[in-house]
Amino acid sequence: MSATSAPIISPSILAADFTQLGEEVRAVANADWIHVDIMDGHFVPNLSFGPDITAAVDGLTMQPLDVHLMIQEPEKWVETYAKAGADCIIFHVEAVESQEAAVALARTIRDLGVRAGFSIKPGTPIEPWLDVLEHFDEVLVMSVEPGFGGQSFMPDQLDKVRALRAAIDQRGLDMTIEIDGGISRDTIRQAAEAGCDAFVAGSAIYKQDDKAAAVEELRQEATL
Ligand code: DX5
Ligand code: ZN
Repeated sequence: MSATSAPIISPSILAADFTQLGEEVRAVANADWIHVDIMDGHFVPNLSFGPDITAAVDGLTMQPLDVHLMIQEPEKWVETYAKAGADCIIFHVEAVESQEAAVALARTIRDLGVRAGFSIKPGTPIEPWLDVLEHFDEVLVMSVEPGFGGQSFMPDQLDKVRALRAAIDQRGLDMTIEIDGGISRDTIRQAAEAGCDAFVAGSAIYKQDDKAAAVEELRQEATL
């Protein structure tokens, strides 16, 4: 996959109306993936939902579930989320002890038949992680501090996207660069131009009346 493929739009159900989760997932049937934000109240100062809600969402749709673990000790949970229906499991590099541990966890995730991803907070340098890209199927670049929806996009994080795109293309890797936080019709194009393939959007989709139209508008804006 490269930045010139069709953009992948992944609505974050964190911004959905939880009293109507079924309706909210069906409302974005034209999206490519569904983004599931798992927060434990420790790695980030917020709590969201866990494996049972993830499994319920999996039962509502055939769309791949992009599960973003914002939790400590992700190694204790990957099997649970694989069983809950995750198609990609993304853990934070700040939540593992070493690069060796991250590579081992990626292998565990792939052995479960699930795509493996890592995510990186705004203050964490990407350079050391460029060395281990081949162990992963996806990188999720945070363009806000993880923990809450509805924050402002941090354009300086696109430098990480550019570094990833250069490394991936140079080495001919088959990987997805996804971006998460503050993605809207005003910011998505610069992320696409920097080299992102996939785009998480919470507020920009779920705070609109016509969610399917919002997905399509984002896709158009991200198509170069
Ligand atoms: C933030 C989450 C995001 C969040 C994005 O910690 O990882 O996925 O839902 O929300 P918006 O698109 O509103 O910034
Ligand atoms: Zn997320």
